[in-house]
Amino acid sequence: MCFHRVLLSNFVESGVPYVMSLYSSPPVFTFPSPMQKNPSNFPPGPWPLPFLGTVFTKMDFRTMNKLAEVYGNVFSLRVGSEKMVVVTGYKMVKEALITQNDSFVERPNVPLFHKVYKGTGLTMSNGYRWRTHRKFGGLHLRMFGEEKKILEHSIQQESVYLCDAFKTEKGLFNPMIILNGAVSNTVACLTFGQRFDYHDEYYQRILRLDNECVQLAGTHRAQLYNVCPWLLEYLPGPHQTMFSNYKQITDFLRGEIIKHREDWDPSNPRDFIDNYLTEMEKYFLFFFSQKKSDPKAGFNIEGLVISCLDMIEAGTETSASTLRWGLLFMIKYPEIQKKVQAEIDRVVGQSRQPCLADRVDMPYTEAVIHEMQRFGDVVPLGFPKRSAKDTTLGGFFIPKGTSISTNLSSVLHDPNEWETPDTFNPGHFLNENGQFRKRDAFLPFSAGKRACLGEQLARQVIFLFFTSLLQQFTFSKCPGEEPSLEGEVWFTNVPSPYRMCVSSR
Ligand code: HEM
Repeated sequence: MCFHRVLLSNFVESGVPYVMSLYSSPPVFTFPSPMQKNPSNFPPGPWPLPFLGTVFTKMDFRTMNKLAEVYGNVFSLRVGSEKMVVVTGYKMVKEALITQNDSFVERPNVPLFHKVYKGTGLTMSNGYRWRTHRKFGGLHLRMFGEEKKILEHSIQQESVYLCDAFKTEKGLFNPMIILNGAVSNTVACLTFGQRFDYHDEYYQRILRLDNECVQLAGTHRAQLYNVCPWLLEYLPGPHQTMFSNYKQITDFLRGEIIKHREDWDPSNPRDFIDNYLTEMEKYFLFFFSQKKSDPKAGFNIEGLVISCLDMIEAGTETSASTLRWGLLFMIKYPEIQKKVQAEIDRVVGQSRQPCLADRVDMPYTEAVIHEMQRFGDVVPLGFPKRSAKDTTLGGFFIPKGTSISTNLSSVLHDPNEWETPDTFNPGHFLNENGQFRKRDAFLPFSAGKRACLGEQLARQVIFLFFTSLLQQFTFSKCPGEEPSLEGEVWFTNVPSPYRMCVSSR
């Protein structure tokens, strides 16, 4: 334990009030305000500043890991007037997400997002509205994914465009824009029924605006908006950039919805928007036939706009970053790349495209992809949650309405669960016979009722894109360059920009 941390724990033990700032040394002191009173047996945590709480504590997973070393696996922070509990390590996260699933199924009201989402759509909604939207979204994904196999076919088609784009790049390049374009097209096919050219200026701009929102959402300055929205509403800052970006993105989505309405045929749904319009109509018909209408479900135009935003936001950055991590690991560990290519050559060969049915015959590739997700750790703190009722977790009392953050990164690197948590090691997912083995602590998609809705889609996209690329190309470091494995932590954890050398096989 470093000196700084010893200092911190001494202060905790002596009960001296202070403001935690792991990045400023020495710690800054303040006195508690009457607002800070916690219920008895509430999880411990750094003393907050009056009105501001622990707002100077960086809200990223590395800071949360350090705080857990000081305060334990269930600790608390205060962001403005909101109390927040952070849950760390496989055992405790499993307890929260799986064993006590009903207690932690809600989303909190985060002002930075509430301004845009307004509790509608899928990702940030609660209660009945969330349940109906989740059921609807799940059905849509299943219909296009598993039953009609439309998704597999469209991902395979997109792989062709992706590989062609890599071929035209020749030599050294940063794969980010092409990978983002390819992944977002799989979500676009599902949502709008169409793909966009990787050089389509308008759609690329929408993706850039969204990417900027994800980046800004993780910054300290934007998070200040969560502390005093009433004040920052009128002041400039990154939160205003986010609101302006979201306005442009939702305008684009409204345009797509209007176009869909013009040639919408309920008997022949093309995509998510068409299916949602049918769902809206159902509620409309209910209303006019005097049957019980269901406005609480929130199937209306605003709900549709935000549900489309949910699909793009939740589905693009996450899968594209996983693939960027994957290619980075391949150039860092060429011997692992060679083994994946050997398996592809053996199972798929060079004369056809990889398909999902190949997965069962490719345990090594599956293990590498799982390790890419574990080590890449793209959503390190999961999405925020809120306790739906008074609960006890790890022996601490958590009152209804408390914000909860489940540190998924601490699960994916839990030293009690992984043999070599801080090393890229596909062996984590292989048994002694070289067969693929599942691991309980593999939770990049979270777990429980609120777990990622797009897990199957994401796994299909990652497998088909990754194997198609390695079937056709070999990736290596650019001469004289050593890309870093240290990610850039925004809301997501993404690789720092890197360039690579691509050669056709
Ligand atoms: C590698 C790719 C992905 C990762 C790592 C990932 C991870 C996650 C995580 C950690 C959550 C939060 C779960 C929780 O609150 O406990 C989540 C939620 C969600 N994800 Fe994903 N995701 C990925 C891809 C996708 C894709 C492709 C889609 C769909 C197009 C998608 C749709 C969603 C939705 C709609 C939610 C909100 C679920 C709810 O609130 O009920 N995700 N995802």
